Amino acid sequence: MQITFIGAGTMGEAMIRGLLHNNVAKVEEIIVSDINQTRRNTLNSQYGVKTMEDNKSASAQSDMIILAVKPQDLGKIIEQVGTLKSEQCVLSIMAGVKLSELCDRIKHHSIIRAMPNMPAQIGQGISVWIASSEVSAQQKKMAESILSSLGKQIQVTEEKYLDMATALSGSGPAYVFLFIEALIDAGVHIGLSRDVSERLVMQTAMGSILTLQQSSKHPAELRNLVTSPGGTTTEALLKLEEGGLRSLFIEAVTAAYNKAKHL
Ligand SMILES: NC(=O)c1ccc[n+]([C@@H]2O[C@H](COP(=O)([O-])OP(=O)(O)OC[C@H]3O[C@@H](n4cnc5c(N)ncnc54)[C@H](OP(=O)(O)O)[C@@H]3O)[C@@H](O)[C@H]2O)c1
Repeated sequence: MQITFIGAGTMGEAMIRGLLHNNVAKVEEIIVSDINQTRRNTLNSQYGVKTMEDNKSASAQSDMIILAVKPQDLGKIIEQVGTLKSEQCVLSIMAGVKLSELCDRIKHHSIIRAMPNMPAQIGQGISVWIASSEVSAQQKKMAESILSSLGKQIQVTEEKYLDMATALSGSGPAYVFLFIEALIDAGVHIGLSRDVSERLVMQTAMGSILTLQQSSKHPAELRNLVTSPGGTTTEALLKLEEGGLRSLFIEAVTAAYNKAKHL
């Protein structure tokens, strides 16, 4: 399998690292085409992959062409890559660029649109993806392996789920970081040093997620286990419910979804 990356910034590099680390592709199976010479030099010296400046030659012989550039660069890329062969498949990770738009603008029918998220940079991401009807079973398997090297992956059959995933898992790391930041501030507010507060919050968040993952319980069941009648936790939870935390999350994710639909 020959894979070409058009653009290899933060996400492209994460994918290259994941592919090599998980033995999904050998170094000689990866070609990187990036406009930026410093990026090309870095990727070549760090991973040993072949790098090129010309998007057309880079994609000519590949089975899978991964578009990992910013959406605003798509027009230029299409001009530079030119016409693709019908047996080639394009995998786009560009946020907000719909499958039908990709098919129309690239004038190609074998296209996969994926929405990874930021923890993909350490192989702990989750990607939601959809394939156009012309993508073969073998190409879907290939996409599954590529996206699995970034963490978990879920294939969907309707594009609306990609917009929903954009709002939930795509933007999700920002919600989690804000939540962690706010808890650290709360610790400082009641008198802990910032360093201790950070350590307490980080390990609490990590430990809680691992506990949830390892138990077969619903989050509400585990929350109840921490909430003694008349105790301290219930005082805090009451404040969070009074402040509308749950409905605020629903409103926030709905706002992100509405934005994703109209990008
Ligand atoms: N970062 C995330 O967490 C994340 C999550 C989900 C989806 N995405 C999507 O992934 C895509 C890539 O994001 P990123 O954060 O990896 O962006 P990035 O770091 O800016 O990487 C894009 C790379 O493409 C290069 N490039 C620009 N025009 C090019 C051209 N015509 N031919 C070849 N290379 C070109 C850029 O070079 P210059 O820097 O010199 O322009 C840069 O090295 C975006 O569409 C984004 O929506 C990102």
